[in-house]
Amino acid sequence: MPGPKKCSGADCHNEAGTLQCPTCLKLGIKDSYFCAQDCFQRNWTTHKTIHKTQNAARVYNPFPTYPFSGSVRPVYPLSPRRPVPKSIKHPDWAETGIPKRELRLNRSKWDILDAKGQEGMRKVCRLAREVLDITAAAVKPGVTTDYLDEICHKACVERNSYPSPLNYNHFPKSLCTSPNEIVCHGIPDQRVLLDGDILNLDISLYHGGYHADLNETYYVGDKAKKDPDAIRLIETTREALDMAIEIIKPGTPIRDFGKIIEKHATSRGLTVVKIWGGHGINSEFHPPPWIPHYAKNKAVGTCKPGMTFTIEPILTLGTDKEMYWPDDWTNVTVDGERTAQFEHTMLVTETGVEVLTARLEDSPGGPIPIPDVANGNKAK
Ligand code: MF3
Ligand code: CO
Repeated sequence: MPGPKKCSGADCHNEAGTLQCPTCLKLGIKDSYFCAQDCFQRNWTTHKTIHKTQNAARVYNPFPTYPFSGSVRPVYPLSPRRPVPKSIKHPDWAETGIPKRELRLNRSKWDILDAKGQEGMRKVCRLAREVLDITAAAVKPGVTTDYLDEICHKACVERNSYPSPLNYNHFPKSLCTSPNEIVCHGIPDQRVLLDGDILNLDISLYHGGYHADLNETYYVGDKAKKDPDAIRLIETTREALDMAIEIIKPGTPIRDFGKIIEKHATSRGLTVVKIWGGHGINSEFHPPPWIPHYAKNKAVGTCKPGMTFTIEPILTLGTDKEMYWPDDWTNVTVDGERTAQFEHTMLVTETGVEVLTARLEDSPGGPIPIPDVANGNKAK
């Protein structure tokens, strides 16, 4: 028979009581018993280091032989699927993983929303902005992308909303987290954010029968905010989206957005990632039209009042060739260069545009000045 349990306090020779470290419990670390609360508190600074090392021993790279193009690695295991209460309206893929209605859509028929539809879009987009801001406020070195997923998921559920990515084509999480060379659709996992990372958070909500979609790229820690390439990349992408939005009004050809975006990208020595585009969004997640972000595209059609769609350019420091990790979701640049993306959901009005996912006064992130060295051809 084992003897009495010893207190885990490094400076303590007492027998353990029933008090267990809550963090150890959560991580599944056994036998972290202490004799008393004050002993636990006194030993906290030394004790807590075990959380990181024990945690590190539990995680693994699921694709050890895959030739990664950059320095980001998947860090598994993924956390279990987060539940959404039955009382919240689910999109059709929630159960099967297959967006059946979306697959059946007539790709040449674009929706025009009436007043009720427009109100529905305003509502879900406002909620989506709140969820992005809440999630972005937690971005800092040391947190995992899975922790951000937990925050996003809870914020959606609190707002009676289904996180649209969850089980969309079997995507396992509630938001996409795409650091550094990840172009888009990164899966939240146990990777810890590092000072100097850049990170895109892509949020989509389903509420009241309508979807919202928005994303922003953030600087992680102070190091990223001093990195001229990171600043040039992020700020130029932010500006490119804003410049495209500027021309939205009834009659604007869909093909014109790409011209503006690519011109701005090129002027700063950046490249547009061409395989990804914006899309219609309403009671469906990805209805027509598809909206290219590059120049000389052949998109047909023009903006009409009542149309809702996204523009979501991705720019990169290198070439726009991309590939997938073996998870079949994570899209990365083949040269390992970093990318940035920004996205809004828009409503075309009689006179112009309403940016339904616009930033609020206190939204985290936001533009920082581009230093001279990062500007334009000089850095190339
Ligand atoms: N917001 C993403 C987009 O419009 C879609 C994310 S859903 C996912 O491209 F399942 F693909 F993650
Ligand atoms: Co989108």
